[in-house]
Parts: sequence; C-alpha cells; structure tokens
Amino acid sequence: MAGTVVVLNGPNLNLLGEREPEVYGRETLADVEALCRTTAAEAGLEVDFRQSNHEGDLVDAVQEVRRSAVGLVVNAGALTHTSVALRDALATVVGPVVEVHISNVHAREEFRHHSYLSAVSDAVIVGCGVQGYAFAIARVATVARER
Ligand code: DQA
Repeated sequence: MAGTVVVLNGPNLNLLGEREPEVYGRETLADVEALCRTTAAEAGLEVDFRQSNHEGDLVDAVQEVRRSAVGLVVNAGALTHTSVALRDALATVVGPVVEVHISNVHAREEFRHHSYLSAVSDAVIVGCGVQGYAFAIARVATVARER
C-alpha cells in the first residue's frame, strides 16, 4: 500500500524526554518520529510528522491533509481536553483517525478524562507509552487496507 500517514502532535510534545519523564518517559519526539517511520515503512507507508504548540496550526494541518492522508494519528496534548475546533477539523478527515495518548489519561486528573476528539476518532490508544504511536500506525494501515 502506498501513501502517507500524517502524525500530528500538539502542545508541549516537543519537550518529550525532558518534560515529566516519570509520566511520559525518556524518549524524545525525534525518537517517536523514527519509530513512526519504521512502523509505517513495514506497511509500505510514508510518514508526515508534525508538532505545533498552536491550535490554529493544527487545524490548518488537518485541513491541508484531510483528503490526501491515508490516515491520521493525533496526540493533541492538552488540546484533547479543550478544543472543539480541532474536533470539528478531525471530523472532516476522509481516512481513519487514531487518537493517541502516551500516558493513561484515565488514571490521571479528572480534567484529562474527557476528550473532545474521541467521538470523531476511529480508535483511541492510551497508556501504552510512545509504543502507542506504533500501534496507531499499524491500525491506520489495517483500516485503510480494509476500506
Ligand atoms: C497527553 C495527555 C494530555 O492530557 C497532556 O496534556 C499531554 C500529553 C499524553 O500523550 O499522554 O500533553 O496527550
């Protein structure tokens, strides 16, 4: 299968590896990108990997790729719990959308238990560490193949 999986990362994920390592681990966002590329390559897919601290940039990115992407993997960070705008953008994505959280958000503060994005995602992966990104890409490849 040819095509591109888009991986979008939200606020503060650029600090992965140094930010609260007891919660998010020691791997950096560059490590996550490498993991995504390796996993996607096994399915014959390319990766377009992005991070932004700005809600509007993420909405713009979703709009840019919503038709062309084979699927979309999104860890929106804190915007998960606040952003109707990102939710509305993700609802327009043609391919499968997989929401990822490195930590188990359900075992954390109450405000992390609700996601605006889950209802418009095909799958949600939480608490698997950065390996969740690999699971998400594998899932995008499977769903895209089935469609
Ligand atoms: C996160 C969980 C969010 O609650 C938090 O704001 C993040 C990271 C995760 O990957 O576990 O920035 O999305």
